[in-house]
Amino acid sequence: MIIFDQVTKHYGDRAVLNNVSLVIEPQEFVSLVGPSGAGKSTLIYSLIGAEKVHSGEIMVDDYKVHIMSEKALQMYRRKLGIIFQDYKLLSKKNVFENVAFALEACGYSKGFIAKRVKEVLEIVGLQNYHSHFPHQLSGGEQQRTAIARALVHDPKLVIADEPTGNLDPESAEGILDLLEKINKNGATVLLASHNKSLVDRLQKRVVRIDEGKIVSDRAQSGYDS
Ligand SMILES: Nc1ncnc2c1ncn2[C@@H]1O[C@H](COP(=O)(O)OP(=O)(O)OP(=O)(O)O)[C@@H](O)[C@H]1O
Ligand SMILES: [Mg+2]
Repeated sequence: MIIFDQVTKHYGDRAVLNNVSLVIEPQEFVSLVGPSGAGKSTLIYSLIGAEKVHSGEIMVDDYKVHIMSEKALQMYRRKLGIIFQDYKLLSKKNVFENVAFALEACGYSKGFIAKRVKEVLEIVGLQNYHSHFPHQLSGGEQQRTAIARALVHDPKLVIADEPTGNLDPESAEGILDLLEKINKNGATVLLASHNKSLVDRLQKRVVRIDEGKIVSDRAQSGYDS
């Protein structure tokens, strides 16, 4: 379970998160929407411990994210699946190597890594792209590679910040379908997105943030802006 309890963060004297309280249950799919500058990325960065908050508490299961050391945060982040708008793939590594990389750092055997990477590339529909390099892939395929990399540790929580921001509508729909599938398979998903039509199509809980405050929280999509 994710709990934000009265979380506030300032840049200078401006509150970019203003007394945010939010509970996300295991296996929920929550879209976080709101205009540019509303604080969506700040909320996500706080959740992964990449930004410190000034007051309030952020708990993820047993992790007290707001007070964890950098070392503990590194361990915590390994349990998360994190997806960004700009893929962050390693350009000199192919699809297989990009996905395998995270497992290699944890010292798994070559056989295990090969099996697990094959499994996740199948989930994202890239089973025939093992040897492609990022520059040989479309934006949608690059994002699928990034999602495969995020899934390789079998995270219970997947956090995506504008994962479709650089994609054409069709590829964006494919990415959302994939996030839905990941959610159906048991992971909690938190998706920050501007994209009204995609979020509407999901028919899932929508939390709307504006000027650092949660201004609405609806069980089903009805996001109007
Ligand atoms: N390092 C920083 N220093 C000062 N202000 C910052 C910093 N990072 C973010 N901000 C400000 O905090 C506010 C919230 O930014 P944030 O990136 O969370 O918005 P967002 O909702 O993700 O917007 P977008 O939809 O454009 O991605 C913005 O006004 C931004 O300018
Ligand atoms: Mg953002």
